[in-house]
Amino acid sequence: MNHEPNDPADDAAEMPAAADADTNAEGGAQASLRHRRIRSFVTRAGRVSTGQRRAMDELGPRFVVPYTPQAADLNALFGREAPRVLEIGFGMGASTAEIAALRPNDDFLGVEVHEPGVGALLKLIGEQELTNIRIIQHDAVEVLENMIAPDSLDGVHIFFPDPWHKARHHKRRLIQPKFVQLLISRMKPGAYLHCATDWQNYAEQMLEVLGGEAALENTAADYAPRPDYRPVTKFERRGLRLGHGVWDLVFKRRAV
Ligand SMILES: C[S@@+](CC[C@H](N)C(=O)[O-])C[C@H]1O[C@@H](n2cnc3c(N)ncnc32)[C@H](O)[C@@H]1O
Repeated sequence: MNHEPNDPADDAAEMPAAADADTNAEGGAQASLRHRRIRSFVTRAGRVSTGQRRAMDELGPRFVVPYTPQAADLNALFGREAPRVLEIGFGMGASTAEIAALRPNDDFLGVEVHEPGVGALLKLIGEQELTNIRIIQHDAVEVLENMIAPDSLDGVHIFFPDPWHKARHHKRRLIQPKFVQLLISRMKPGAYLHCATDWQNYAEQMLEVLGGEAALENTAADYAPRPDYRPVTKFERRGLRLGHGVWDLVFKRRAV
């Protein structure tokens, strides 16, 4: 959940499980896993607090959008027409809520697989009476593929994605050419893509992958100054105190 140097799901990632099926696909039951894709997350059991559960019961029906493999009508989901920002992997949703409060004229669609995170963001939505957030609890790759129409997003936020810091796990990192091409296809021309990481090697990969897409234009020479709307998280603050770096990257889809 946090973005400390150790991957949160590290132990699970060591298991020769379904997610590694590409390298572990021979024979018997494994054969059925052959086509399963490598995911950027592992499902972790996490305790949902009483307050989070209550928020899920009371606010879930209004703010959580069930995953369906069909394009979603975002105007209908938000009940208005407004610029739409997709956030992938919002964790406990602290930044999401803060940005949504700061930018009431924009709508934020947060995608997260971790249930306590969904409960935590719903709790913040309730406490701050936010109306411009909707949540999908599902793999963001499938959400993008199936629920988000081409050329429909005004912005994308990916803050501190799991760094998967061991070389053999780099294939699980979200920011890879294929995924970025999917993202670009869902962004409007002129839309922005904002990534942040506190893992230097991943920042370098982001710069290389995003910089390698002809459809994207870097808004900075390389790394961008942190845009004012992105709050400094408590993990980030602690890292900065310890002398660690944080890198923001802000690219735009070129207008055609
Ligand atoms: C290291 S945490 C960062 C959370 C938050 N953005 C922050 O800055 O604190 C990464 C989050 O991304 C989520 N995640 C990873 N891959 C995902 C995917 N494919 N779809 C949805 N959520 C994903 C994880 O569950 C985790 O909560």
